Amino acid sequence: MDLSVKLPGLDMKNPILPASGCFGFGREFSNFYDLSKLGGITMKAATLHARYGNPTPRVAETASGMLNAIGLQNPGVAKIIQEEVPFLAQFDTKIMANIAGSTAEEYIEVAKSFNDTDDVHALELNISCPNVKEGGIQFGTDCMMAASITEQVKKASRHPVYVKLSPNVSNIGEMAKAVEAAGADGITMINTLTGMQIHLPSKRPLIANKTGGLSGPAIKPVAVRMIYEVKQQVNIPIIGMGGISTAEDVLEFLLAGASAVAVGTANFQNPCVCSEIIDELPQVLECYGFNSVQETIGKGIQ
Ligand SMILES: Cc1cc2nc3c(=O)[nH]c(=O)nc-3n(C[C@H](O)[C@H](O)[C@H](O)COP(=O)(O)O)c2cc1C
Repeated sequence: MDLSVKLPGLDMKNPILPASGCFGFGREFSNFYDLSKLGGITMKAATLHARYGNPTPRVAETASGMLNAIGLQNPGVAKIIQEEVPFLAQFDTKIMANIAGSTAEEYIEVAKSFNDTDDVHALELNISCPNVKEGGIQFGTDCMMAASITEQVKKASRHPVYVKLSPNVSNIGEMAKAVEAAGADGITMINTLTGMQIHLPSKRPLIANKTGGLSGPAIKPVAVRMIYEVKQQVNIPIIGMGGISTAEDVLEFLLAGASAVAVGTANFQNPCVCSEIIDELPQVLECYGFNSVQETIGKGIQ
C-alpha cells in the first residue's frame, strides 16, 4: 500500500502529522514511539519572544472534545531554532514550523528566523488562534488582512507557506481563495471553534480567558464540511484536521479533499494515536478498495 504524499516542501512517507500545540516539540512523545514513523511533525506555535500564555484554568473537557485557551505559550523562536529543531531533526520526518504574532512585523520576523535552518521544511502561518487578544484571529477573519499577511510572509520566507484557516468565519471558501491568490503554497484547516463553558458553582466562565477553542471529535463534521467546500474552490493542497482519532477518520478527510491530515486533541487521550493510525491506515484503505493514499484525495466530492 502506497501511503506517500508529496506536498510543497513536505515529501512525506505517509499523510499523518501531529497538529500544532498538541505534540509540543515531540520530546515527550519520543518516549512512546519512534517519531521517524510520522509523515511530518507540526511544532507548537513560535512567536518572536517567549510567551507564558494565558492564566489558568485554560483547558476544560467537553462532550466529545475539549476547550483550550493556552495563549500561544512557547519559548520564543530563537530557542526553538537552537534547541527544539535540532532535537526533531534527528528523526527521519518532515518538520513544519507554526508561526504566530501580534503584528504583521512579528510574523515576518519569525518567518525570517526560520530561513536560517534547513531542518524546517515548511511554515504554517497561524492566523486563526482564537485565544490571544491581539493578532492571530484578527488576520484570520478578514480576507484582505489574511491575503496581506500571507503575501508579506511569502516574501520574507524561503520555505513553502501553508496558511491555517479559522472556522470562525461565515465563508471559509472566500478566505481560502484570498490566501491562494496571495501566494500561499497550501492550506491547513481547521483551527478550533470559539466556545465557552460555565462553571456552575461559581456561575462564571470556567476558562480564565472566558472563551476557548473547541477541538476534538465534536468538531469533525464541521472540519469535513469546510474541507469539502474549500477543495472545490482552490488548487493548492489542504492539510485537514479537526477531531481525527482513527484511520477511518483519516480516510473521511482524504475523501473530502485533504491531501494529508493532522491529529491534535487525540494525542492527549492516547500518546500513541498517530503511530496506531499509521499502522491501521493500509487495512482501512484496502477495505474501501484503494491501493494508495493519492487515489483517495477528493474522491468524495460529487
Ligand atoms: C491545547 C491545544 C493547543 C493548540 N495550539 C495551537 C497552536 O499553537 N497553533 C495552532 O495553529 N493551532 C493550535 N491548536 C489547534 C490544533 O492544531 C488543531 O487545529 C485543532 O485542535 C483541531 O484539531 P483536533 O480536533 O484534532 O485537535 C491547539 C489545539 C489545542 C487543543
